Amino acid sequence: MKINLDEAINILKNGELVIFPTETVYGLGGNANNEKTIKKIYQLKNRPSINPIICHFKNINEIEKNFFLANKAYDLATKFFPGPLTLILEKKKSSKISPIVSNNNRFVGCRIPSHFIAQKLLNAVNFPIAAPSANLSSKLSPTMISHISESLLKNAYFIDGGKSLYGLESTVVKIDENSAKILRLGSITFEEIKKIIPNTTIDNLKTKLISPGQLIKHYSPDKPIRINVDYVDADEALLNFGLNNLKSNILELNLSINNNLEEASRNFYDYLHIIDKSKCKRIAIAPIPNTDLGKTINDRLKRASSIK
Ligand code: TXA
Ligand code: MG
Repeated sequence: MKINLDEAINILKNGELVIFPTETVYGLGGNANNEKTIKKIYQLKNRPSINPIICHFKNINEIEKNFFLANKAYDLATKFFPGPLTLILEKKKSSKISPIVSNNNRFVGCRIPSHFIAQKLLNAVNFPIAAPSANLSSKLSPTMISHISESLLKNAYFIDGGKSLYGLESTVVKIDENSAKILRLGSITFEEIKKIIPNTTIDNLKTKLISPGQLIKHYSPDKPIRINVDYVDADEALLNFGLNNLKSNILELNLSINNNLEEASRNFYDYLHIIDKSKCKRIAIAPIPNTDLGKTINDRLKRASSIK
Protein backbone atom coordinates (compact mmCIF):
# COMPACT_ATOMS: atom_id res chain seq x y z
CA MET A 1 0.00 0.00 0.00
CA LYS A 2 1.27 3.48 -0.91
CA ILE A 3 1.91 5.67 2.13
CA ASN A 4 3.36 9.08 3.00
CA LEU A 5 6.38 9.91 5.17
CA ASP A 6 4.50 10.34 8.46
CA GLU A 7 2.72 7.03 8.00
CA ALA A 8 6.02 5.35 7.11
CA ILE A 9 7.63 6.63 10.32
CA ASN A 10 4.83 5.16 12.45
CA ILE A 11 4.91 1.87 10.57
CA LEU A 12 8.67 1.54 11.08
CA LYS A 13 8.28 2.34 14.79
CA ASN A 14 5.70 -0.47 15.00
CA GLY A 15 8.23 -3.01 13.70
CA GLU A 16 6.67 -3.27 10.24
CA LEU A 17 8.43 -3.01 6.87
CA VAL A 18 8.52 -0.05 4.47
CA ILE A 19 9.84 0.04 0.90
CA PHE A 20 11.60 3.39 0.52
CA PRO A 21 13.73 5.19 -2.08
CA THR A 22 17.49 5.64 -1.76
CA GLU A 23 19.86 7.26 -4.25
CA THR A 24 20.98 3.80 -5.43
CA VAL A 25 17.95 1.46 -5.55
CA TYR A 26 14.78 1.03 -3.45
CA GLY A 27 15.22 -0.71 -0.10
CA LEU A 28 12.89 -2.95 1.90
CA GLY A 29 13.53 -1.66 5.40
CA GLY A 30 12.75 -2.19 9.05
CA ASN A 31 14.09 -1.65 12.58
CA ALA A 32 17.60 -3.17 12.66
CA ASN A 33 17.36 -3.74 16.43
CA ASN A 34 14.20 -5.85 16.16
CA GLU A 35 14.77 -9.53 15.45
CA LYS A 36 11.17 -10.21 14.38
CA THR A 37 11.33 -7.36 11.88
CA ILE A 38 14.55 -8.66 10.34
CA LYS A 39 13.07 -12.15 10.05
CA LYS A 40 10.17 -10.64 8.06
CA ILE A 41 12.65 -9.10 5.61
CA TYR A 42 14.36 -12.45 4.96
CA GLN A 43 10.99 -14.17 4.58
CA LEU A 44 9.44 -11.65 2.25
CA LYS A 45 12.49 -11.49 -0.02
CA ASN A 46 12.93 -15.24 0.07
CA ARG A 47 16.53 -14.50 1.02
CA PRO A 48 18.88 -17.14 2.44
CA SER A 49 19.74 -16.27 6.05
CA ILE A 50 23.49 -16.51 5.25
CA ASN A 51 23.20 -13.37 3.08
CA PRO A 52 23.68 -10.44 5.51
CA ILE A 53 21.63 -7.23 5.34
CA ILE A 54 23.01 -3.67 5.25
CA CYS A 55 22.13 -1.26 8.08
CA HIS A 56 21.33 2.36 7.23
CA PHE A 57 22.26 5.20 9.60
CA LYS A 58 21.49 8.92 9.67
CA ASN A 59 25.10 10.03 10.29
CA ILE A 60 28.63 8.94 11.21
CA ASN A 61 27.97 9.55 14.90
CA GLU A 62 25.24 6.89 14.92
CA ILE A 63 27.58 4.44 13.16
CA GLU A 64 30.26 5.06 15.79
CA LYS A 65 27.81 4.28 18.62
CA ASN A 66 27.54 0.76 17.21
CA PHE A 67 30.79 0.11 15.31
CA PHE A 68 34.55 0.65 15.33
CA LEU A 69 35.31 3.19 12.63
CA ALA A 70 39.00 4.04 12.38
CA ASN A 71 41.80 5.02 10.04
CA LYS A 72 41.13 4.10 6.41
CA ALA A 73 37.47 3.23 7.02
CA TYR A 74 37.04 6.67 8.55
CA ASP A 75 38.71 8.27 5.52
CA LEU A 76 36.25 6.55 3.18
CA ALA A 77 33.33 7.44 5.46
CA THR A 78 34.15 11.14 5.54
CA LYS A 79 34.72 11.21 1.77
CA PHE A 80 31.65 9.28 0.60
CA PHE A 81 28.98 9.46 3.35
CA PRO A 82 26.18 10.27 2.86
CA GLY A 83 26.22 8.44 -0.46
CA PRO A 84 26.37 5.08 -2.26
CA LEU A 85 29.05 3.38 -0.11
CA THR A 86 28.65 0.41 2.25
CA LEU A 87 31.46 -0.20 4.75
CA ILE A 88 31.81 -3.57 6.44
CA LEU A 89 32.55 -2.66 10.06
CA GLU A 90 33.12 -4.51 13.32
CA LYS A 91 30.21 -4.22 15.74
CA LYS A 92 30.73 -3.13 19.36
CA LYS A 93 29.50 -5.43 22.13
CA SER A 94 27.17 -2.66 23.34
CA SER A 95 25.29 -2.45 20.01
CA LYS A 96 21.59 -3.38 20.03
CA ILE A 97 21.58 -4.32 16.34
CA SER A 98 20.09 -7.79 15.92
CA PRO A 99 22.77 -10.43 15.26
CA ILE A 100 20.61 -11.93 12.52
CA VAL A 101 21.18 -8.97 10.16
CA SER A 102 24.65 -10.45 9.68
CA ASN A 103 24.03 -14.14 10.33
CA ASN A 104 25.63 -13.75 13.78
CA ASN A 105 28.84 -12.38 12.29
CA ARG A 106 30.33 -9.37 14.10
CA PHE A 107 31.08 -7.62 10.80
CA VAL A 108 28.09 -5.70 9.44
CA GLY A 109 27.50 -3.62 6.29
CA CYS A 110 26.84 0.05 7.19
CA ARG A 111 25.69 2.86 4.97
CA ILE A 112 24.44 6.45 5.19
CA PRO A 113 22.07 7.12 2.29
CA SER A 114 21.88 10.64 0.87
CA HIS A 115 18.31 10.46 -0.47
CA PHE A 116 16.18 13.03 1.39
CA ILE A 117 13.34 10.57 2.04
CA ALA A 118 15.72 7.96 3.49
CA GLN A 119 17.30 10.73 5.58
CA LYS A 120 13.90 11.92 6.84
CA LEU A 121 13.00 8.38 7.93
CA LEU A 122 16.35 7.83 9.66
CA ASN A 123 16.11 11.15 11.48
CA ALA A 124 12.58 10.43 12.73
CA VAL A 125 13.20 6.98 14.24
CA ASN A 126 15.74 6.19 16.96
CA PHE A 127 17.11 3.00 15.42
CA PRO A 128 19.13 2.08 12.31
CA ILE A 129 17.13 0.76 9.38
CA ALA A 130 18.16 -2.64 8.01
CA ALA A 131 17.35 -2.75 4.30
CA PRO A 132 18.31 -4.97 1.40
CA SER A 133 17.27 -4.01 -2.13
CA ALA A 134 13.49 -4.36 -2.56
CA ASN A 135 13.53 -7.29 -4.98
CA LEU A 136 13.05 -11.02 -4.58
CA SER A 137 16.35 -12.79 -3.95
CA SER A 138 18.55 -13.11 -7.09
CA LYS A 139 16.24 -10.90 -9.20
CA LEU A 140 16.77 -7.38 -10.61
CA SER A 141 16.97 -4.49 -8.15
CA PRO A 142 14.21 -1.86 -8.42
CA THR A 143 14.96 1.76 -9.29
CA MET A 144 11.23 2.62 -9.55
CA ILE A 145 8.14 1.39 -7.69
CA SER A 146 6.81 -0.13 -10.94
CA HIS A 147 9.78 -2.56 -10.93
CA ILE A 148 8.81 -4.10 -7.60
CA SER A 149 7.16 -7.52 -7.68
CA GLU A 150 3.46 -7.83 -6.78
CA SER A 151 4.26 -10.21 -3.94
CA LEU A 152 6.45 -7.62 -2.22
CA LEU A 153 4.09 -4.70 -2.87
CA LYS A 154 1.15 -6.71 -1.49
CA ASN A 155 2.97 -7.41 1.76
CA ALA A 156 4.79 -4.15 2.48
CA TYR A 157 3.97 -0.46 2.57
CA PHE A 158 5.82 1.74 0.11
CA ILE A 159 6.87 5.37 -0.43
CA ASP A 160 7.09 6.41 -4.08
CA GLY A 161 10.14 8.64 -4.60
CA GLY A 162 10.37 8.39 -8.40
CA LYS A 163 13.41 7.07 -10.27
CA SER A 164 16.69 6.50 -8.37
CA LEU A 165 19.47 9.02 -9.00
CA TYR A 166 22.34 6.53 -9.50
CA GLY A 167 20.49 3.35 -10.44
CA LEU A 168 23.16 0.86 -9.29
CA GLU A 169 23.58 -0.46 -5.75
CA SER A 170 26.16 0.87 -3.28
CA THR A 171 29.81 -0.17 -3.46
CA VAL A 172 30.59 -2.62 -0.64
CA VAL A 173 34.08 -2.18 0.85
CA LYS A 174 35.97 -3.98 3.60
CA ILE A 175 39.13 -2.46 5.08
CA ASP A 176 42.09 -4.61 6.14
CA GLU A 177 44.64 -2.39 7.89
CA ASN A 178 45.89 -0.17 5.05
CA SER A 179 44.24 -1.94 2.16
CA ALA A 180 40.66 -2.04 0.88
CA LYS A 181 38.74 -4.87 -0.73
CA ILE A 182 35.74 -4.11 -2.92
CA LEU A 183 33.31 -6.95 -2.18
CA ARG A 184 30.67 -5.59 -4.54
CA LEU A 185 31.26 -3.06 -7.31
CA GLY A 186 28.66 -0.30 -7.19
CA SER A 187 27.84 3.34 -7.79
CA ILE A 188 31.21 4.51 -6.45
CA THR A 189 33.89 3.28 -8.83
CA PHE A 190 37.05 1.28 -8.14
CA GLU A 191 39.00 4.31 -9.43
CA GLU A 192 37.33 6.64 -6.87
CA ILE A 193 38.07 4.29 -3.94
CA LYS A 194 41.66 3.87 -5.15
CA LYS A 195 42.20 7.64 -4.94
CA ILE A 196 41.60 7.45 -1.18
CA ILE A 197 43.17 4.01 -0.57
CA PRO A 198 45.79 3.23 -3.24
CA ASN A 199 46.03 -0.39 -2.11
CA THR A 200 42.51 -1.36 -3.24
CA THR A 201 41.59 -4.62 -4.93
CA ILE A 202 38.36 -5.95 -6.38
CA ASP A 203 37.46 -9.14 -4.61
CA ASN A 204 33.96 -9.89 -5.76
CA LEU A 205 34.17 -12.89 -8.04
CA LYS A 206 35.90 -15.39 -5.79
CA THR A 207 34.77 -18.93 -5.25
CA LYS A 208 35.10 -18.54 -1.49
CA LEU A 209 32.30 -16.15 -0.66
CA ILE A 210 32.70 -13.31 1.80
CA SER A 211 29.69 -11.44 0.49
CA PRO A 212 26.77 -13.40 -0.98
CA GLY A 213 26.31 -10.53 -3.46
CA GLN A 214 29.31 -12.39 -4.90
CA LEU A 215 27.03 -15.34 -5.63
CA ILE A 216 27.42 -15.89 -9.34
CA LYS A 217 23.73 -16.03 -10.33
CA HIS A 218 22.36 -12.71 -9.14
CA TYR A 219 20.75 -9.49 -10.34
CA SER A 220 19.05 -11.42 -13.11
CA PRO A 221 16.02 -10.88 -15.37
CA ASP A 222 13.65 -13.81 -16.04
CA LYS A 223 14.71 -14.09 -19.70
CA PRO A 224 18.14 -15.46 -20.64
CA ILE A 225 20.68 -12.83 -21.63
CA ARG A 226 23.64 -12.82 -24.01
CA ILE A 227 26.35 -10.21 -23.42
CA ASN A 228 28.95 -8.43 -25.61
CA VAL A 229 26.94 -9.25 -28.74
CA ASP A 230 27.97 -8.36 -32.28
CA TYR A 231 24.65 -9.50 -33.82
CA VAL A 232 21.04 -9.78 -32.62
CA ASP A 233 18.90 -12.90 -33.23
CA ALA A 234 15.31 -12.62 -34.51
CA ASP A 235 13.80 -13.56 -31.14
CA GLU A 236 16.02 -11.21 -29.11
CA ALA A 237 15.37 -7.72 -27.76
CA LEU A 238 18.41 -5.42 -27.66
CA LEU A 239 19.87 -3.45 -24.76
CA ASN A 240 22.20 -1.15 -26.68
CA PHE A 241 24.97 1.29 -25.74
CA GLY A 242 26.32 4.10 -27.95
CA LEU A 243 25.95 4.28 -31.71
CA ASN A 244 26.46 1.09 -33.75
CA ASN A 245 24.81 -1.13 -36.36
CA LEU A 246 23.02 -3.49 -33.95
CA LYS A 247 19.26 -3.82 -34.51
CA SER A 248 16.41 -5.80 -32.99
CA ASN A 249 13.10 -6.69 -34.69
CA ILE A 250 11.38 -6.80 -31.30
CA LEU A 251 12.56 -3.94 -29.07
CA GLU A 252 15.67 -1.81 -28.69
CA LEU A 253 16.51 0.44 -25.74
CA ASN A 254 19.75 2.41 -25.64
CA LEU A 255 21.39 2.89 -22.22
CA SER A 256 23.21 5.97 -23.49
CA ILE A 257 23.51 7.05 -27.12
CA ASN A 258 26.28 9.45 -26.02
CA ASN A 259 28.42 6.70 -24.38
CA ASN A 260 27.76 8.25 -20.96
CA LEU A 261 28.23 5.61 -18.26
CA GLU A 262 26.37 7.61 -15.57
CA GLU A 263 23.33 7.86 -17.81
CA ALA A 264 23.69 4.15 -18.63
CA SER A 265 23.79 3.26 -14.92
CA ARG A 266 20.64 5.27 -14.21
CA ASN A 267 18.79 3.49 -17.05
CA PHE A 268 20.28 0.02 -16.54
CA TYR A 269 17.75 -1.74 -14.27
CA ASP A 270 14.82 0.25 -15.69
CA TYR A 271 15.54 -0.86 -19.24
CA LEU A 272 16.24 -4.46 -18.19
CA HIS A 273 12.88 -4.52 -16.38
CA ILE A 274 11.09 -3.16 -19.50
CA ILE A 275 12.84 -5.57 -21.88
CA ASP A 276 12.25 -8.50 -19.54
CA LYS A 277 8.49 -7.82 -19.72
CA SER A 278 8.49 -7.53 -23.55
CA LYS A 279 7.60 -10.43 -25.81
CA CYS A 280 11.21 -11.30 -26.64
CA LYS A 281 12.56 -14.79 -25.93
CA ARG A 282 16.05 -13.62 -25.00
CA ILE A 283 17.96 -10.39 -24.37
CA ALA A 284 21.04 -9.37 -26.39
CA ILE A 285 23.33 -6.82 -24.77
CA ALA A 286 25.81 -4.61 -26.60
CA PRO A 287 29.40 -4.35 -25.34
CA ILE A 288 29.83 -1.79 -22.53
CA PRO A 289 33.28 -0.24 -21.91
CA ASN A 290 34.92 -1.89 -18.91
CA THR A 291 35.99 1.31 -17.13
CA ASP A 292 34.53 3.31 -14.20
CA LEU A 293 30.80 2.55 -13.83
CA GLY A 294 31.07 0.24 -16.87
CA LYS A 295 32.90 -2.21 -14.56
CA THR A 296 29.87 -2.30 -12.26
CA ILE A 297 27.44 -2.73 -15.16
CA ASN A 298 29.56 -5.55 -16.63
CA ASP A 299 29.76 -7.23 -13.23
CA ARG A 300 25.94 -7.26 -12.98
CA LEU A 301 25.64 -8.52 -16.57
CA LYS A 302 28.10 -11.35 -15.97
CA ARG A 303 26.05 -12.56 -13.00
CA ALA A 304 22.75 -12.11 -14.82
CA SER A 305 23.99 -14.14 -17.78
CA SER A 306 25.43 -16.90 -15.63
CA ILE A 307 23.60 -20.23 -15.66
CA LYS A 308 24.73 -21.28 -12.17
O1 TXA B 1 22.55 0.38 -2.53
C1 TXA B 1 22.39 -0.51 -1.70
O2 TXA B 1 23.33 -1.03 -1.08
C2 TXA B 1 20.94 -0.98 -1.46
C3 TXA B 1 20.16 0.14 -0.77
C4 TXA B 1 18.75 -0.27 -0.45
O3 TXA B 1 20.84 0.56 0.36
N1 TXA B 1 20.95 -2.16 -0.66
C5 TXA B 1 21.39 -3.35 -1.13
O4 TXA B 1 21.31 -4.39 -0.21
O5 TXA B 1 21.77 -3.51 -2.27
P1 TXA B 1 21.42 -5.92 -0.63
O6 TXA B 1 21.13 -6.67 0.61
O7 TXA B 1 20.59 -6.19 -1.80
O8 TXA B 1 22.93 -6.10 -0.99
C6 TXA B 1 23.89 -5.96 0.03
C7 TXA B 1 25.20 -6.56 -0.40
C8 TXA B 1 25.07 -8.04 -0.61
O9 TXA B 1 25.94 -8.39 -1.67
C9 TXA B 1 25.54 -8.60 0.71
O10 TXA B 1 26.04 -9.89 0.59
C10 TXA B 1 26.64 -7.60 1.09
O11 TXA B 1 26.14 -6.36 0.64
N2 TXA B 1 26.79 -7.54 2.55
C11 TXA B 1 25.93 -7.06 3.45
N3 TXA B 1 26.38 -7.23 4.71
C12 TXA B 1 27.59 -7.82 4.58
C13 TXA B 1 28.57 -8.28 5.52
N4 TXA B 1 28.38 -8.17 6.82
N5 TXA B 1 29.69 -8.88 5.05
C14 TXA B 1 29.88 -9.00 3.72
N6 TXA B 1 29.00 -8.60 2.78
C15 TXA B 1 27.87 -8.02 3.21
MG1 MG C 1 20.14 -6.95 -3.54
